[in-house]
Amino acid sequence: MSVLEAKQLYKKYVLGELTVNALDGVDFQLEKGEFVAIMGPSGSGKSTLLHLIGGLDNPTEGSVLLVNQPLSGINDNAATLARRHNIGFIFQFFNLVPTLNAEENILLPIIIDGKDPNDYKARLDGLLELVGLSNRRHHRPDQLSGGEQQRVAIARALITKPSVVLADEPTGNLDSKSGKIIMELLRHSCDKLRQSIVEVTHDPRAASYADRVVFLRDGKIVEEIILEKKLPFTHRLRKINTILERLEQ
Ligand SMILES: Nc1ncnc2c1ncn2[C@@H]1O[C@H](COP(=O)(O)OP(=O)(O)OP(=O)(O)O)[C@@H](O)[C@H]1O
Ligand SMILES: [Mg+2]
Repeated sequence: MSVLEAKQLYKKYVLGELTVNALDGVDFQLEKGEFVAIMGPSGSGKSTLLHLIGGLDNPTEGSVLLVNQPLSGINDNAATLARRHNIGFIFQFFNLVPTLNAEENILLPIIIDGKDPNDYKARLDGLLELVGLSNRRHHRPDQLSGGEQQRVAIARALITKPSVVLADEPTGNLDSKSGKIIMELLRHSCDKLRQSIVEVTHDPRAASYADRVVFLRDGKIVEEIILEKKLPFTHRLRKINTILERLEQ
């Protein structure tokens, strides 16, 4: 079953005389429980693609279906609700609310949605356990390490059981050990919770946790590889690096 289907996405930015084709005819599909990494040089359109499939921005042309519902072309209110119920975001700089503690940050999407956070106690406890922060639940972001803050952000992204989690460089601001923990958590949520994930990354190691890697250049998908479940880590990495080297030429 496909949870997300984007067809012929175009995004043009016009700045005076200059037109940037940030996305130039991208088709993208995501299956339930699938983990896809998006790679490509700076400016190739990765964040633009993530924003369009997450409904944070509208395409110039093309359509996005999220769990078979159109996301683009609907009014802002409907898009906001669809996004709130079906999408969890994880960002490079964590984007936690500094005045709220870990559990309050995790519950924020529930509160924004007008639901009673008391009904989510069991789920909150489960997620704190999952991300290994049961003993940090009352810490504010400035009392947590970067890796811990990102784990709070993962729990926040998962609290609504969204159809899709979108992560833009989730390990971009972390040391390699914390990055590994984050990637293992994302992988675990696909394998155990059947979460569907799209992750943008520059780091071949972070991409190697995915089931599929999509390579963008100049707003187009130029390569796509499948990383079979059984494939050992070193082979995954080699496969990704081979494509990256070829694309750099
Ligand atoms: N709001 C905007 N106005 C004008 N041009 C933009 C805007 N946002 C992005 N662009 C341009 O669109 C292109 C794609 O940008 P995008 O942010 O998607 O790249 P990216 O692949 O995420 O890069 P990076 O790896 O550096 O994050 C770039 O050339 C960028 O300059
Ligand atoms: Mg980007």
